[in-house]
Amino acid sequence: MALRKLVAGNWKMNGSLAGLTELDAIAGAASDAVDVAICPPATLISAAVSRQSSLPIGAQDCHWNASGAHTGCLSVAMLAEAGAKLVIVGHSERRTDNHETDAEVKAKASAAIAGGLVAIVCVGETEAQRDAGHAIGVVTAQLQGSVPEVGRGETLVIAYEPVWAIGTGRTPTVADVADMHAAIRQCLRQLLGNEGAKVRILYGGSVKPSNAAELLHIPDVDGALVGGASLKAADFVPIIDAAK
Ligand code: 13P
Repeated sequence: MALRKLVAGNWKMNGSLAGLTELDAIAGAASDAVDVAICPPATLISAAVSRQSSLPIGAQDCHWNASGAHTGCLSVAMLAEAGAKLVIVGHSERRTDNHETDAEVKAKASAAIAGGLVAIVCVGETEAQRDAGHAIGVVTAQLQGSVPEVGRGETLVIAYEPVWAIGTGRTPTVADVADMHAAIRQCLRQLLGNEGAKVRILYGGSVKPSNAAELLHIPDVDGALVGGASLKAADFVPIIDAAK
């Protein structure tokens, strides 16, 4: 089943109010043929929504609790009030930097969905794990631990991001991406039944204009999660176009 593709940009800890001008051309590239979203730093969500109200804007993390003594954290309701429509959870940089566990990622995704946001759950193996032949096993275990039972095609997105491909300019082979996405699809069907066929599976890790078309046409690659190349419309728009 061909799912409508989603091309999402993760600005990470980059961007500024002045840089929101990039959203104009990005919003202009969105069409009926592809969904587009940008996840800027949380401080920019509100201004991003004001600048381009037609472009879905997302956050890069959320807390699983609705409120409380969690200094520096943001709840789903706060993000939704700022105008966010989706939220990335379990990015490998947060799993590494903040020691996030699968159980925490699952709690965040569940809270996001309960609060009306689309949850983009990230998974991916390290280079050592791939070299040891464990890539699919590692990713399957991450999915089993982090995918919320309430996930549906409209509310849940998976992003497969091999850790060694993020920001390095390196990507897995087409065959490796195809094998991994097929394994993820199979796992989603086991976890979610028929809904598992409707959940979009994005590829992320060094997606750029020159490799986007090849990656986006692999079976079960239902879009891309783009870091560095999402910061400038000149790089991001060709990736959106490649998904059409
Ligand atoms: P790059 O596209 O910069 O490799 O980052 C990918 C990523 O981590 C998106 O979440």
